[in-house]
Amino acid sequence: MSGNESDTIEARLGEQEYYRPPPAFVGQANVSDPAVYERFEDFPEGFEEYARLLDWDEHWETVFDGSDPPFYEWFGGGRLNASYNCVDRHLDSYGDKTALLWEGEPGGTRRIAYQDLYRMVNEFAAVLRDVGVTKDDIVTLHLPMVPELPVAMLACSRIGAPHSEVFAGFTAPALADRLADADSRYLVTIDGYYRRGEFLDHKRKADAALEDDTVDIDTVLVFTREDELHPDTDLEDGRDVLVADRLADHHGERIDPVSRAANDILFLMYTSGTTGKPKGAQHGTGGYLSYVAGTAKYLFDIHPTDTYWCFADIGWITGHSYIVYGPLAVGATSVMFEGAPDHPHRGRVWEIAERYDVDIFHTSPTAVRMFMKWGEKHLQPYDFDFKHLTTVGEPIQPEVWRWYYEHVGKESAVIIDTWWQTETGGVVISNLPALADMKPGSVGQPMPGISPAILGGDGEEIEPGMGTAGYLVLSRPWPGMLQTLYEDDERYISEYWETFSETDSDDWHDWVYKAGDSAVLAADGYYRVLGRLDDVMNVAGHRLGSMELESAIVEVPQVAESAVAPRDHPEKGQVADAYVVLKEDAESSEEIREAVVNAVSEEIGKFARPENVEFVTVLPYTRSGKIMRRLLTEISNDRELSDTTTLEDPSVPEEIRQQVESH
Ligand code: PRX
Repeated sequence: MSGNESDTIEARLGEQEYYRPPPAFVGQANVSDPAVYERFEDFPEGFEEYARLLDWDEHWETVFDGSDPPFYEWFGGGRLNASYNCVDRHLDSYGDKTALLWEGEPGGTRRIAYQDLYRMVNEFAAVLRDVGVTKDDIVTLHLPMVPELPVAMLACSRIGAPHSEVFAGFTAPALADRLADADSRYLVTIDGYYRRGEFLDHKRKADAALEDDTVDIDTVLVFTREDELHPDTDLEDGRDVLVADRLADHHGERIDPVSRAANDILFLMYTSGTTGKPKGAQHGTGGYLSYVAGTAKYLFDIHPTDTYWCFADIGWITGHSYIVYGPLAVGATSVMFEGAPDHPHRGRVWEIAERYDVDIFHTSPTAVRMFMKWGEKHLQPYDFDFKHLTTVGEPIQPEVWRWYYEHVGKESAVIIDTWWQTETGGVVISNLPALADMKPGSVGQPMPGISPAILGGDGEEIEPGMGTAGYLVLSRPWPGMLQTLYEDDERYISEYWETFSETDSDDWHDWVYKAGDSAVLAADGYYRVLGRLDDVMNVAGHRLGSMELESAIVEVPQVAESAVAPRDHPEKGQVADAYVVLKEDAESSEEIREAVVNAVSEEIGKFARPENVEFVTVLPYTRSGKIMRRLLTEISNDRELSDTTTLEDPSVPEEIRQQVESH
C-alpha cells in the first residue's frame, strides 16, 4: 500500500461527529456495563460467558487448546447439539412463539412457531436418515429463501451431518465445484421459487451440476415450493426423491439430537479467495454456536420478545449466523422473505417491518444506498419503529449512514456497523450498541475478547491516530473462527497465516490471522475498514474472487486472456470490470461482449456479471508473470497509477488507459 493511497483515504473520509446511543435503547440493552470488556480480556476464559448461553450435554474440559497453531480447539471435551439449542430447549417457554416468520413473494405468510419448527426439523431429519444420511456425511443444500432452508440446516445438525449451503443464485458449474470439493453424496434442492413475479425453475441447476464427472451424488432430495411440482421439473428415477412423499412416511416422528463433540464440524461455507477454487470455510459446533449466540445477544441486542429481521440471504454467512443460528439460539422471532425488495413495489421492506412490528433490522450498505436512491417517499406510508439498525459487508459512506439514521431509524434507533467475514463466523469488530458512541463510516471498537491490529507491510504495528492504512489482522483466536479450509490445511495457512506469523512456532502467540482487508485505526480506537487488499471483490455485498470470473470469461472461444478489477459504484459498492484480450483472429464486437457477460452468468450466477467489458491488447504483467490487477483497478476508478516498476513493461497501464478512453 502506498503512502499516497492512505493519505487520500483519510482526506476522503475525514473525521466524523459522534452520535450518542438513544437513552431508551440503553435502558433496555442486554449489555450496558462496560465491565464486559474486562471480563473478556481474561483470555480465553472470558469467552465461557458465550458458551454458557448454550445447553451442553457435557461441559467442556478445556476452554481453548492452542497447542497446534493455527488449528485451534474451543471448549474441548464439551458435547452439544446445535438443533437442540436452537429449537428443543425453547419449547417449554416459547413453544407457541413464532421462530420463523416468512413472507413469500407472491404473498402468503408462514408463521412457524418453535413447536412447528421442532416438528419440521424432526420430520426432515427422519427423511435424511431414511435416504441414508449418517453422522459426518456432508449434505449440500442448494436452497433459496424458503423456510425449508433453515429446517434443512437444523435437521442436518440434529443428526450430526455437516451442511454446506450453496447460495441459490449460483448456477450449475459453481454448484458442481462445491459439491465435488465437499465430497457430498447428498444434495437438497427445491423445484422452484419466486423472484420478481416469476416462478423460477431451480432444480434444473442441480440436474446440470450432476452431469459433471467430478460430482458423485447418490440422492437428490427435492422440496416443492407449491402443492404442484414446477411444470419444468423432471425427476430422475432412483436418484431424485420428492421430500413431500417421504415426509408422509415420517409424520410425527421424533429423532433424538445426536450429541456432537464441540469441535465436530457444524457446516462448511464456501467463499471466494485469491485463486479460482472456492474455499470451504469449516466451522465447528461449540465454538461457532457460542460465538453467534453471544453476539446475537450482546451486539444485535436480541431479546426473546424481539422481532428481528436480517435482510440477507441464508446462502451467505450473514444468514447462517444471524438469520438462523444466532437468533434461534437466543429464542427470537427471525424474519425471512422470498423475492426482491422492489417487487411488487418499492415499499415492500417497510410494509413488512410495519406489519410484523420489526424491532431490529440488519442489512448491507448496498441495500441502504438502494433505498436512498428510491427515495423517502417509499418509507413514508409505513409506520415502522426500529430500535436497533445494523449494516454489514462493506464500508458505509457517512452520508449513507446519516440517511439510514434519519429516515429508517427516525433518529431514535442505535446503528452499528459490523465487520466480519465468512471465516470469522460472527462479528469481530463493532461497537456494543449501548456502550459506545456511533461514528458514521467507522465500524468502531473490537468486540469483547477480540484483539485486532493494523500492520504495515513489514509487519510492524501502525499506532492509532497515524492516519495510515495497513493490513487488518487479528492477533488472538476467538471461538467463532473457522477451524480450517475443508481438507486443505495448507491453503488455510497460506491464505490467512503465513504473511505475519512465525510459522515454525508452536506457540499460538506467534500466529497472526490476516483478514485480507485494509483498515485505518483512529486515535479514539475506532477502526475503519476500507476494503480488500487482495484479488477479492465485494460486488453488491457478494464476495467474488477475480480469478473465478476470469476463468469463466476465458471459456469464451475468442478470448485469449482476461483480468477483472473492481470499480467503485455509487449504489452497488463495487462492480466488476472485465479487461479482455482477444485471440489474434478475433475482433471485438457486441456479440463477444455479450458472450463474456453470459459466460459469467452461466458459470457463476447473474449476480456476478461484469458491468463493463473492456477490449484491450495487453494486460499488465509483472516480471514474475503475475497480472497486477491493482493497476487495472486504478484505471477503472480513474485514479492515478501507482508504482509500475515491477512490471515487465511499465508502459502497459498507460497504453490500456488510452485504449479504454478511446472506446
Ligand atoms: O472486505 C470485508 C468486507 O466483506 C469481506 C467479507 O466478506 P464475506 O466473507 O462474504 O462476509 C460478508 C459478511 C460478513 C471482508 O473481508 N466487509 C465485511 N463487513 C464489512 C466489510 N467491509 C467494511 N465494513 C464492514 N462492516
